Amino acid sequence: MKLPIVAYGDPVLKKVCAPIEQEYPDLKQLISNMYETMYNAHGVGLAAPQIGLAIRLFIVDTGADEDENAFKRTFINAEILEETGEPWAFNEGCLSIPDIREDVMRKPNIRIRYYDENWELHEEEITGMPARVIQHEYDHIQGKLFTDTLSLLRKRMLKSKLDAISKGNVKADYKMRFPQQSRRR
Ligand code: NI
Repeated sequence: MKLPIVAYGDPVLKKVCAPIEQEYPDLKQLISNMYETMYNAHGVGLAAPQIGLAIRLFIVDTGADEDENAFKRTFINAEILEETGEPWAFNEGCLSIPDIREDVMRKPNIRIRYYDENWELHEEEITGMPARVIQHEYDHIQGKLFTDTLSLLRKRMLKSKLDAISKGNVKADYKMRFPQQSRRR
């Protein structure tokens, strides 16, 4: 089942998310719904707060186009243990912030500990683009968006566009939930 994606401005996107337990209700179904939602929106990552849940869960699949080198993982209760290397810039976007892309600096190497969808514990070193996608999604479960990392000037320049997104004045080719959309009856 595809879920609506929460748009910029919703308080759930600002929450530091809570860890979950193995008994979390319908977790398998939730994860499967998140993959369906992400693929439908042509995203490479999706975090639980983006579908309205403040829990430490996110998914990554960098190979939506049947790329053999695709990196696909489900991250539960993830903790980034270390980030190393010379920061590099990449033009990032976010399914919660349609139509805005900005250069974001991130370190290229990470070490991360997490549970997968079968509750097996992993500690992995990841580098390059998959690491970047993980850092972006990890920020989501820490209550951070890529726009938070921008300079004050850049933020000011984007303000009216971001306000418009919160109000639902933006086009996305997937279903969204807007925090400030007036409800008409
Ligand atoms: Ni995002």
